[in-house]
Amino acid sequence: VEQLPADIVAADRFVFNPELTVAIEKRAGGVFQVAYVNGKETVVKRFDIAFGAGEKAWTFGYWQDKKLYQLPLSYFKTIGGWANSPGFPLHQAQFNRPIIGRCFECHASYIAEEEGQPQSLTATRTLDQQSIIYGIDCERCHGPAAEHVSFHTENPTVKEPKYMVSWKMLSRQQRLDACGVCHSGNDMDMQTSTFRFKPGDTLSNFYYPGYGHSSAGPDVHGNQVQLLATSRCFTQSKTLECGSCHNTHERGPENLAVYSAQCINCHKDPQAIHTTMNASEINAITANCIDCHMPNQASQKISFQVTGKQETDAYLLRTHRIAVYPDATKSMVEKKK
Ligand code: HEC
Ligand code: HEC
Ligand code: HEC
Ligand code: HEC
Ligand code: HEC
Ligand code: HEC
Repeated sequence: VEQLPADIVAADRFVFNPELTVAIEKRAGGVFQVAYVNGKETVVKRFDIAFGAGEKAWTFGYWQDKKLYQLPLSYFKTIGGWANSPGFPLHQAQFNRPIIGRCFECHASYIAEEEGQPQSLTATRTLDQQSIIYGIDCERCHGPAAEHVSFHTENPTVKEPKYMVSWKMLSRQQRLDACGVCHSGNDMDMQTSTFRFKPGDTLSNFYYPGYGHSSAGPDVHGNQVQLLATSRCFTQSKTLECGSCHNTHERGPENLAVYSAQCINCHKDPQAIHTTMNASEINAITANCIDCHMPNQASQKISFQVTGKQETDAYLLRTHRIAVYPDATKSMVEKKK
């Protein structure tokens, strides 16, 4: 969660249909989404907060009476433009869908909310805007640090870290849980807020029974842990976890060749494995195991509508179920020819 990113430009518009348009307009006091019905202004709401610091999309909210609501237009970096927010009705500019505290549990480091009430997208609690800690800070992955800092300030000669969870000491399941807090499904109803989770804790204690069990199976959006767990690399290796491929402290210039080198760490002789391919094909592919074995797939949960189109476009993410995908192989081999 951030303040409004600087490169969002006003003066764009999204045409739902000839009668209905939503425009992005800079006016006194900020940037706004403005709905027009037959050219007449009907709703004006300001961009107050942005969700999504990642590579793919941003969605936005506005505050009203201590509650936060999602704006109808989201920005998709993948298409470089605006689209109707995922899951929103196709012929309507919706301004009343709440953004709840649960969203902040994964997209920020803290928000205080009214206690006691159950949490869902229909029964929302009030949120305390002043309490927000933006971004994902060190403590989300390393636990509370206050005690650690005060101990070491008072005892500068002690070199062994105290009162701080060390990732080196965590088991594989504990590591998966510590990433899984935010990467193993986004059910909205929780037994306990995951703001209380610290590395070493058991994540399932925060869930109600049945968490993450959708009839469609784990989705490429949000279910990286479950998908990885069904891979033979995971079940047969006993060591594979998120950190085998991702360095969470350095997001950025990694490319598919760097990831593929991680595969080759375990699968040392790609040529011997790929019996159906010839040697020159294999040499060409060692820089990219990913497009065949972790192809981009459409999310079943999220799709989006771009301006002037009635149907929705797919939202693509890498599947973390590492396996053989004949269709992906076919299109890779065709691309090479
Ligand atoms: C507090 C929640 C949280 C935790 C804990 C967390 N992540 Fe994430 N992660 C996110 C969110 C949210 C995104 C989507 C990008 C954004 O909106 O900032 C993300 C994005 C990513 C990405 C995509 C990078 C990108 O720039 O798009 C990777 C890879 C990733 N996380 C890996 C991990 C790993 C590995 C761990 C455990 C060491 C982890 N995350 C722990 C919330 C979390
Ligand atoms: C998204 C999760 C995430 C965030 C946020 C994060 N770290 Fe880490 N950090 C990790 C992981 C995972 C490791 C272990 C890497 C490994 O095993 O090589 C680690 C390792 C470390 C270590 C080495 C000691 C150890 O526990 O293994 C230090 C020190 C550290 N992080 C400091 C920080 C600081 C300071 C911040 C904030 C600026 C921060 N980290 C933010 C995930 C995170
Ligand atoms: C359990 C954690 C979790 C919850 C709850 C959650 N998200 Fe996310 N969200 C993620 C992760 C992880 C990603 C990025 C990776 C992915 O799509 O799987 C993401 C991606 C996004 C993105 C796209 C950002 C990008 O560039 O990848 C937006 C926008 C977003 N979420 C908004 C929301 C909103 C609004 C809510 C509440 C209705 C919400 N999320 C609830 C974890 C969560
Ligand atoms: C920590 C070691 C490890 C890493 C890293 C790893 N794998 Fe594996 N993988 C295994 C093991 C063990 C098996 C099961 C034995 C076998 O089939 O070789 C396996 C199985 C597979 C299979 C067969 C899957 C099936 O359903 O039959 C494929 C394909 C595969 N790995 C590809 C990859 C790719 C691509 C990467 C990198 C993105 C990767 N692996 C990373 C250990 C690993
Ligand atoms: C075998 C290697 C491997 C492992 C293990 C792995 N990832 Fe990834 N992950 C990748 C690759 C490759 C990508 C795609 C990077 C790209 O396209 O630039 C990716 C992308 C992502 C993204 C960005 C979303 C997307 O689809 O582009 C997130 C979030 C993520 N991984 C989280 C995780 C989490 C959480 C774990 C542990 C449960 C994990 N990954 C384990 C290789 C791995
Ligand atoms: C062009 C697509 C493609 C690329 C690129 C690719 N593979 Fe494969 N891989 C396949 C196919 C298809 C199979 C099934 C066996 C066969 O047809 O040879 C397979 C099988 C495997 C297997 C399982 C073998 C078994 O015993 O079941 C592993 C492990 C594997 N690949 C690892 C890798 C690694 C590591 C890389 C990158 C160096 C890689 N693959 C690159 C298509 C690909």
